[in-house]
Amino acid sequence: MTRIFSGVQPSGDLHIGNYLGAIRQWVAAQDVADTLYCVVDLHALTLEIDPAALRSRTLETAVGLMAAGLDPDRCTLFVQSHVPAHAELAWLLECTATYGELRRMTQFKDKGNDQESVRASLLTYPALMAADILLYDTDDVPVGDDQRQHIELARDLAIRFNSRYGDTFVVPRASIPPLAARVMDLQRPDKKMSKSTGTPLGTVAITDSPDEIAKKVRRAVTDTESGVRYDPESRPGVANLLEILSVATGEDPRVIASRYDAYGPLKSDVADALVELLAPVRARVAGLSADPATVSAALEKGASKAAGVASVTLDRARAAIGLTPRPR
Ligand code: AMP
Ligand code: TRP
Repeated sequence: MTRIFSGVQPSGDLHIGNYLGAIRQWVAAQDVADTLYCVVDLHALTLEIDPAALRSRTLETAVGLMAAGLDPDRCTLFVQSHVPAHAELAWLLECTATYGELRRMTQFKDKGNDQESVRASLLTYPALMAADILLYDTDDVPVGDDQRQHIELARDLAIRFNSRYGDTFVVPRASIPPLAARVMDLQRPDKKMSKSTGTPLGTVAITDSPDEIAKKVRRAVTDTESGVRYDPESRPGVANLLEILSVATGEDPRVIASRYDAYGPLKSDVADALVELLAPVRARVAGLSADPATVSAALEKGASKAAGVASVTLDRARAAIGLTPRPR
């Protein structure tokens, strides 16, 4: 059976970029693959985050994932730091990666650029991400387009480790959806929608109320050209709306575009589609938030299942690289 792994940072509210670009694929995979999904709390420490916020967002992110359709009985859902093997394998992979290849990652350049003091972990972040993936003998990693380069690096590290120390890791592949792989900020259609760096009005959280969704979509920045056409290169704002509607309805964005000649009716249909898509998610978030014990129990079960798989791979990697066996 195909093994699937993916992760999401607890750095803010889950938004429709996360949902359409990644989480929908995770939900669909539960019935056809062996799936593991992880709230990557250690990754959230690469940028400044208040300890209380990290604590509450870790649980809220798990709630959001379950509300979006991840079922702890059909997938392994857990918190990264609950399985110490992640941090340990990350070290072995930092000893496999080079400074040059980590420095070239575009996300490191983007996130590090405007900061006075950049955490060392922001540079080594992709080695931890590679550890997340490689620990589970992962075949496919369903992610949005922004993670393509990190997964390419995880592949390179797996191949390098295997050729230096003998066959140890499965070499993973990125799985990126054909549409909505890069949902753009509704206010800044040249920037991806983001938990940490997005504009408040341009970011639609999966828990936004119908009124908030309608307001944000109505105010979405488009362009001054006339007519509605699907052209992501030169008309990113309207293409973004068309892709969102396309994923929500299953119709091709070009076909959808041909039905409209003004932005008003398009925006109103996009808002309606999002409201309908998110209504059940929002209702389940309310239910699960009122029942944190159920969520914690699911995460505890997930961590114990994940740890069982991870320890086998970690021992294999430790032995291959020449670390002596741990005393039992
Ligand atoms: P993050 O919020 O960075 O932890 O991302 C979690 C998952 O959502 C990853 O697979 C990302 O690639 C995906 N993702 C994040 N932002 C977007 C976006 N604006 N459009 C599509 N996918 C996204
Ligand atoms: N870096 C990813 C992001 O910001 C999150 C992540 C961490 C991840 N580890 C992962 C995604 C492993 C896929 C697989 O979106």
